[in-house]
Amino acid sequence: MLIIVLVVFNFLSKGRPQPTLTWLINNKPLEDHTVLKNDGKIIISRISVGGAERSWLNTSIRCQATNTPLLSPHERTARVEMRLKPTSVMITNKPGQMSADTEVTLICVSHGSRPPAQITWYRENRKYTRGKHHIYTNETTTVSRLTMLPQPEDDGVVIRCRAENAVLSVALEDSFRISVICVAHQFPESEFSIGLEKFAWIHNCQ
Ligand SMILES: *[C@@H]1O[C@H](CO)[C@@H](O)[C@H](O)[C@H]1NC(C)=O
Ligand SMILES: *[C@@H]1O[C@H](CO)[C@@H](O)[C@H](O)[C@H]1NC(C)=O
Repeated sequence: MLIIVLVVFNFLSKGRPQPTLTWLINNKPLEDHTVLKNDGKIIISRISVGGAERSWLNTSIRCQATNTPLLSPHERTARVEMRLKPTSVMITNKPGQMSADTEVTLICVSHGSRPPAQITWYRENRKYTRGKHHIYTNETTTVSRLTMLPQPEDDGVVIRCRAENAVLSVALEDSFRISVICVAHQFPESEFSIGLEKFAWIHNCQ
């Protein structure tokens, strides 16, 4: 699930006496670091941290150089930025039946993507571009609202919501098969006073 596995951070420190380098992740000292260069003038130190977790997002990483207890250490700080897959996508309302030519709003919610997921709606295998699309995004969530006017020919088709992290080229989907019914309008006897029928039913689709 996790994507960023490596944090590499270089620190250059000049001075005498030889400074001591300390790495801190969220204020906790890190034991292992690799000294890539130490020629008496410059020390280059590197850390590699595997098994990154989502919780590392925004973690602060500090490197301190101290060469005398009399002075406070020189320090550099970095914030961990991560690219994260979406963890979920869901069409939160899946109407059992829709009426032809009656507006309906479908809502699709995706969590966890960084950068935010891009949500695309599909009708079968084609992008659904009709209707009104409204997108809301914040730091953790993308919500897409699709207001559509189902047509009789949409009966039985699969509507999909796809949430993609374009940077990582990974996507999650949710879908459901829609059922579109034709709405029958009842007309009073007076308008259709043929034979014994009291009412006539006119459907808005064949
Ligand atoms: C991470 O840090 C950035 C920049 O300081 C901030 O805008 C954002 O809200 C933080 N995100 C989280 C999930 O803490
Ligand atoms: C982001 O939006 C979702 C859905 O509206 C909400 O539940 C969540 O609290 C929001 N998060 C932030 C950090 O604003």
